[in-house]
Amino acid sequence: VEVMLQPTPALTWVSTGGILDLYIFLGPNPQSVIRQYLQVIGYPTMPPYWSLGFHLCRWGYTTTTTTRKVVERMHNASFPLDVQWNDLDYADKRRIFTYDPWRFGDLPQMVKEFHERGMKYILILDPGISSTSPSGTYPPFDHGLKRDVFIKNATGNILIGKVWPGPTAFPDFTYPETRKWWEDCIRDFHSKVPVDGLWIDMNEPASFVQGSVEGCPDNDLENPPYTPRVVGGQLNSGTICMSAQQNLSTHYNLHNMYGLAEAYATNRAFTNVLGKRPFVLSRSSYPSIGRYSAVWTGDVRSDWEQLRFSIPAVLQFSLFGVPLVGADICGFGGNTTEELCVRWMQLGAFYPFMRNHNDKPNAPQEPYVFGQKAQAAMRSALNLRYSLLPFLYTLFHHAHTSADTVARPLFMEFPTDPNCQTIDRQFLWGSSLLISPVLEEGAVDHLFFFSLGQYLLLPAPLDTINVHVKEGHIIPQQEPALTTTASRRNPFFLTVALSAGGWAWGDLFWDDGESLDTYEMGNYCYVTFIAGESQIVSDPLRLNGALDGLILGGLQVFGVPSSPHYVLANGDFSVCFFTQVLTVTSLALPMSEVFTVQWAL
Ligand SMILES: *[C@@H]1O[C@H](CO)[C@@H](O)[C@H](O)[C@H]1NC(C)=O
Ligand SMILES: *[C@@H]1O[C@H](CO)[C@@H](O)[C@H](O)[C@H]1NC(C)=O
Ligand SMILES: *[C@@H]1O[C@H](CO)[C@@H](O)[C@H](O)[C@H]1NC(C)=O
Ligand SMILES: *[C@@H]1O[C@H](CO)[C@@H](O)[C@H](O)[C@H]1NC(C)=O
Repeated sequence: VEVMLQPTPALTWVSTGGILDLYIFLGPNPQSVIRQYLQVIGYPTMPPYWSLGFHLCRWGYTTTTTTRKVVERMHNASFPLDVQWNDLDYADKRRIFTYDPWRFGDLPQMVKEFHERGMKYILILDPGISSTSPSGTYPPFDHGLKRDVFIKNATGNILIGKVWPGPTAFPDFTYPETRKWWEDCIRDFHSKVPVDGLWIDMNEPASFVQGSVEGCPDNDLENPPYTPRVVGGQLNSGTICMSAQQNLSTHYNLHNMYGLAEAYATNRAFTNVLGKRPFVLSRSSYPSIGRYSAVWTGDVRSDWEQLRFSIPAVLQFSLFGVPLVGADICGFGGNTTEELCVRWMQLGAFYPFMRNHNDKPNAPQEPYVFGQKAQAAMRSALNLRYSLLPFLYTLFHHAHTSADTVARPLFMEFPTDPNCQTIDRQFLWGSSLLISPVLEEGAVDHLFFFSLGQYLLLPAPLDTINVHVKEGHIIPQQEPALTTTASRRNPFFLTVALSAGGWAWGDLFWDDGESLDTYEMGNYCYVTFIAGESQIVSDPLRLNGALDGLILGGLQVFGVPSSPHYVLANGDFSVCFFTQVLTVTSLALPMSEVFTVQWAL
């Protein structure tokens, strides 16, 4: 089916046949439309906590030595970094489930070192299985042949396309035996290289030859009566033949679901191998993929236009039930400039999934390659993100359990304000944090939309990204660190924005960050914070021990009218400052117990 949006406004549907099931979600408001949609396609999965940290990747980290140096330089320059990645550089002759014996011979050791630093490691895993290695030398293909896991052409032979390793066969993830074989491959590889996440790319599936190395037959599936405006002008351009046979049906019927089927297989396999929450990142997507995988917006260019487009791209995936989404920060294609990369790191600090990723021929764009001023701006954006991770994680909990959005368009929060309908240069985290990035070269001011209906011009020099807390909200934060392994042990603090009436509310979901189904099994903590009548009280509604030993170190209250005479924390006098904002420091209140902070005006 091809669907076109007309300016009228109207939708035009073009179909060559089949049965069309139409679901209409009546809302009445945008948030309930999304919830109704996700009740059909499934709620998003809960990501591991570390996956909300900073990820660094490029094609062209050609050895373990180079990859280690990247991590060391990030660390030396005090940039938070949770996850180091490798693109296909790691693989022996670009074949998945192998690693290059010379350039990546000590890959297992490298991964172990990253783990010792409290970091994680992810590598790329394309679906194409090299079909030309001498028999007996490449088990993924040999075993796959034996177990009959590959997609067949119209006459029943294995369909061979071409991807990075050369000629390749394509696993048929709709076939149950294929999913078992995939799990065996992942288990075997993981026993050697204990990766923490899998990056499933090229899963449209992409192929460098049209259809197959033998082409495709001329039939109605390859050349239907109507061809939508697809890349290359034919359905089999850049992919495999439509008349190829999969267990469930023809590839014609399954093409758009190849990535979803692979994400499902990978998520299930990896869950079984790890016994923990898996992290999977997919390029191809389809409704329901948020249950199994994160998504990134593909190979974007390093330019200002793509920086701007990344906001609607991320917000759309929010609406599609894929909250864990981001664009390649600083751009994948072409060379970035320092200013663009600073602005992109600032915006990217508010992508739910934050990864800087670069293509092989380009100038480097890791934070440490830039001047001191640019580095300071990037470091401050990263530290701000890391400080907000408890809040971000809590938003993911609500996405997982209630189909809320994480990165949220303004129209969802203010559905009756017509000004909000078209805003795509600002967005919210949840309902309380407004992000107003700079999206133009040379700009130091930015237009800011206010819920009272005013536009204000705010200063935004290179080291600044404007972030605003909505009145009546409490944001749980934690002192940042170079990894989430470390930051998760740091003191919490609260940012409180009192409403005009002096009230505010916030909440925190907390668990071990990696076990399966913690919410479903009750293995989590859930604490609410309530401010009103010159005090803030915590209310731990559920405790399982995950917050034991963690403390509240301080808080900031906006909207206190004048300097208090004193502040009491659980009845004891506390250190405080007042310069329009009430700041309370040096607290050590256990997070797993009720606490009260009061101020006397
Ligand atoms: C990191 O810092 C250490 C200590 O100053 C230094 O020996 C090392 O060479 C630095 N690493 C890199 C890759 O710059
Ligand atoms: C299927 O593959 C076989 C073996 O490569 C080839 O001989 C045959 O022509 C292919 N069939 C189609 C319909 O392309
Ligand atoms: C699909 O696989 C099942 C076994 O899992 C088998 O019984 C069935 O015949 C297969 N269908 C096709 C069309 O190959
Ligand atoms: C991009 O940077 C690389 C490495 O610094 C350089 O070799 C290349 O010429 C640059 N490309 C363009 C288009 O400026």
